[in-house]
Amino acid sequence: MAKNQKLEVSILAFDTSSENIFNKQLEKMQKNEIEIVHYDVMDGVFVPNRAYGIEYLSTLYLYGFDTHVHFMVTNPWKWTKEFLHYPLNAITFHPEPISKLQTRLLIRKIQKSGKKAGLAFRPQTDINQYKNILKKADIVTIMGVNPGFGGQKFMEEITLKNLKLIKTIKDELNPSLIIQLDGGVNYDVIKLTHKYVDNFISGSFLVKQPEPIKVKEFIEQI
Ligand code: DX5
Ligand code: ZN
Repeated sequence: MAKNQKLEVSILAFDTSSENIFNKQLEKMQKNEIEIVHYDVMDGVFVPNRAYGIEYLSTLYLYGFDTHVHFMVTNPWKWTKEFLHYPLNAITFHPEPISKLQTRLLIRKIQKSGKKAGLAFRPQTDINQYKNILKKADIVTIMGVNPGFGGQKFMEEITLKNLKLIKTIKDELNPSLIIQLDGGVNYDVIKLTHKYVDNFISGSFLVKQPEPIKVKEFIEQI
């Protein structure tokens, strides 16, 4: 793997109708060498949809997955306090609804607990205003769609602009920053964006693959 790029599966695309079905999907990902689960959390206010609370975190840990939480919520402090009691590896949250000071303090709080911390941005957010905070972050999630739902079409123009900007910020200010791309990822999008991205997050596209490992191999070969 030239750049140590990784592939994360978003469990938003999983069938959660029974524990047995849920576990089968995890086992399929495990067999296909997918090591990171992207864990979407939505409060129904920041985005017009609701998704998981803490209910699957222990199962993911017992299976041995790394868990990257993506908070799409208006009050990330409240949610972080709850989630920090559980085994997980990283948290990114949207800073748009809170102040810069609160954002900076929350990054520090998450890092103090030994987990990776970072920001996630809506496509329309001006990333430049967060440069100083990104200097201290471990991870950043660039959205390829408006947050809220899986299975949407990749917003090419605005996302490429954001990826180029975040790559410049990374190179100039924080070379170890992990750039994640979330939303609309498929083979074409991977080809188009691989220069800028460390971790690709995929829900609907990856979950419906008969052999998800092929997507991983594709990333490794470009
Ligand atoms: C969207 C979520 C994504 C979503 C991606 O708001 O943050 O993580 O699950 O799903 P796909 O890959 O289907 O766009
Ligand atoms: Zn997400």
